[in-house]
Amino acid sequence: MRMVDLIEKKRDGGTLSEEEIQFIVTKYTEDQIPDYQMSALLMAIFYEDMTDEEITALTLAMAHSGEVIDLSSIEGIKVDKHSTGGVGDTTTLILAPLVASVGVPVAKMSGRGLGYTGGTLDKLESIPGFQIELPEEEFIRLVNESQVAVIGQSGNLAPADKRLYALRDVTATVNSIPLIASSIMSKKIAAGADAIVLDVTTGDGAFMKNLEDARRLAHTMVRIGKLADRQTMAVISDMSQPLGEAIGNSLEVVEAIETLKGNGPEDLVEMCYALGSQMVVLADKAQNLEDARQLLEEALSSGEALEKFKEMIRNQGGDDSVIDHPEKLLTAKYEKSLLAKRSGTVTKLVANELGIAAMMLGAGRRTKEESIDHAVGLKLHKKVGDTVEEGESLLTIYSNTEALQEVTELLYQHIEIGNNGAEPPLIHEIITE
Ligand code: URA
Ligand code: CA
Repeated sequence: MRMVDLIEKKRDGGTLSEEEIQFIVTKYTEDQIPDYQMSALLMAIFYEDMTDEEITALTLAMAHSGEVIDLSSIEGIKVDKHSTGGVGDTTTLILAPLVASVGVPVAKMSGRGLGYTGGTLDKLESIPGFQIELPEEEFIRLVNESQVAVIGQSGNLAPADKRLYALRDVTATVNSIPLIASSIMSKKIAAGADAIVLDVTTGDGAFMKNLEDARRLAHTMVRIGKLADRQTMAVISDMSQPLGEAIGNSLEVVEAIETLKGNGPEDLVEMCYALGSQMVVLADKAQNLEDARQLLEEALSSGEALEKFKEMIRNQGGDDSVIDHPEKLLTAKYEKSLLAKRSGTVTKLVANELGIAAMMLGAGRRTKEESIDHAVGLKLHKKVGDTVEEGESLLTIYSNTEALQEVTELLYQHIEIGNNGAEPPLIHEIITE
């Protein structure tokens, strides 16, 4: 087989076979196909697209390019959840203990991400002592004993995806549905998931800016999940404004604790129930979504889910007193209110730019090497559709620097107050095939 022939085939609209895709991924991972040929193929895929069978072959080849985690010694159906990215998305922190408390085993490997705020790992690390690096045996033991553990991704998970993603990043081929779908699904499969719940976000703060693209990505991932023998479903959710009220690492841990205490923001709570009930059904712990939701509501109102979070923190070496005293986590030096300049209704809270503002405060990384300030971020007091009086606080800025002019200006530019704004729908669609 010659790479040049395979590039030509795809360039002319042909379909690559499983063997051909396996050859490409293996040889590229072994450094026997140069970046320039791979780049040409990526661009051909960008223009010519791939069939579901091709995407599945690519997904499986990438999943098997490195370590594949074996979770078979954990009893039960392991359901993983993945979000295609959002601003202030606190759902994983809540869902892990919540679904674990109704008996769904959660063996979660999370990434750090290069988002505007940290990834789940960064959020967890804002809890003093919390260990995200555990030996695999310890990780499995914890899930078997306690139903939940969240750790950092092994460095050798889907290495082909890591290299391809870096190449896509510099060849203008990131935004291709077959390439995004295979990238995400390869990592979920390598991490050992039996079943997968996808949260495909859409809107300004998401990868997929419009509903049509989000729908295509969701359908593609659900289909390849099935072809790869992993039950998969997707929720298309709105990310035009941030989810919940907190954006920033320790602020989101506090938000998760408050939510598990029953005091969460309505949209975040609803999102957790929506995704959580899908996970419970896929894990075979309930017959249908209504029963699943009821189980979750009971676990939350009885305090079992909160207790599970406490247990998870303790198991992983963290200071579990933050559950009873979340204010311990609020250590930013300055808290400043952003006041409304007029009365009216909030019509826009641009998720993307609010994320950038949080990053400017130090809550996220611009490059992999940058360190994160866990304490800083934003806490929203108003969401789209809420009415506001002139002089009322729109949000609180938590910061460790006194100079906030740049951040304040950016925030004012991207928060709009008008005469009437309606709350956007939280979930656009649920896709099961
Ligand atoms: N997230 C991923 O993991 N891969 C992509 O290609 C895009 C988003
Ligand atoms: Ca949030």
